[in-house]
Amino acid sequence: MSKVRLIVLSTFGLEAVIKRELMDLGFNDFVVADGKIEFDAEMKDIPRLNIGLRAADRVLVKVGEFPATDFGQLFDAARALPWEDWLTYDARIEVIGKCVRSQLMSVRSCQSIVKKAVVERLKEKFLTEILPETGPEYTISVALLKDVAQLTLDTSGNGLHKRGYRSAKGDVPLRENLAAALVLLSFWDKERLLIDPMCGSGTILIEAAMIARNIAPGIDREFVSELWPALDSEYWRKARLDAQAAIIREGELKIFGYDIDEERIKDCLINARNAGVAGDIAFAVKDIKDLWIDKQYGIVITNPPYGVKLGSQKELTPVYVSIHNMFKKKTGWSLFVLTADKRFPDFFKRAAPDRVRKLFNGTIEVNYYQYHGEHEPRG
Ligand SMILES: C[S@@+](CC[C@H](N)C(=O)[O-])C[C@H]1O[C@@H](n2cnc3c(N)ncnc32)[C@H](O)[C@@H]1O
Repeated sequence: MSKVRLIVLSTFGLEAVIKRELMDLGFNDFVVADGKIEFDAEMKDIPRLNIGLRAADRVLVKVGEFPATDFGQLFDAARALPWEDWLTYDARIEVIGKCVRSQLMSVRSCQSIVKKAVVERLKEKFLTEILPETGPEYTISVALLKDVAQLTLDTSGNGLHKRGYRSAKGDVPLRENLAAALVLLSFWDKERLLIDPMCGSGTILIEAAMIARNIAPGIDREFVSELWPALDSEYWRKARLDAQAAIIREGELKIFGYDIDEERIKDCLINARNAGVAGDIAFAVKDIKDLWIDKQYGIVITNPPYGVKLGSQKELTPVYVSIHNMFKKKTGWSLFVLTADKRFPDFFKRAAPDRVRKLFNGTIEVNYYQYHGEHEPRG
């Protein structure tokens, strides 16, 4: 069983970024739907993808897909799948689920039917009446959409945004995979100057430095499927060794992060050190109104306070005015601003945004305003 069908889960709006990452890793022939990208891969790709994907949420194995309009059908088809190829006789099994526009609409019932089917299958295949459920963890998902059930197995465990470096964070930090996506969408490259003038716990800049150094986001964390006997431990070892060998250590980066709050800057220093990029980013306490830039070209990627509460909108006005004053004439600067506050383009009047992308930070709907600057001549 070396071929597998994988589904990479994505936050809504980031499918194209993840598809590009997958293409860079050598995959093709994708089926893309809202929030997921499906494709053929090999077993050895499961560690490589978990360790290497920057913008994705999770990597799932697609175990089966079939029509199911009643519980009998769901049970029989789920029981017919080769669970013993993946699960151990002592597997600790959790089944999660969702039902959308289907005749079977009780998520709870679908979950328990699938669990029963998997247990029956394992009992039969492992010739046992009792499954101790004391071994590795397996989370199976049953997703019903328009009467078609899709059964998957989560290989990631903790979501891929949890890189493990962020021990210190403010109130509203960006998810690490969203921060990485913002950098990838900006097409910033390591030769260019990058600033986040409201950097909070530093997530955008740390992800940028990791991209520049080609540090795989999952290099320092564990994944639930590392404990599965079905996945050769050699695959994990090799994926980690390859990731280590791919790190680019030479060259200097031009990355700067500021925040008005001294505590956040302390967080940044801790997080950057944890991520192995402390030497790549200069952090300092600074109010955006005191920011002064004399360089002709560069990129700003930032996530101002959201101002979702009514009162706080007024407090944001001076922040927007500062951005406008600083960059209105700096046509060599590209600006990328992620905010839930739809008033932002009314304040930044250099030009209309070249593109506005609707994204989600957790459950909060946000817009990513993209203002492209003139190209920097390469010398
Ligand atoms: C939404 S948070 C940024 C979160 C960040 N992207 C992260 O992942 O941690 C906005 C940040 O803007 C900072 N901030 C607010 N007003 C500022 C100002 N006038 N100058 C500089 N930073 C400011 C806040 O202290 C806060 O850390």
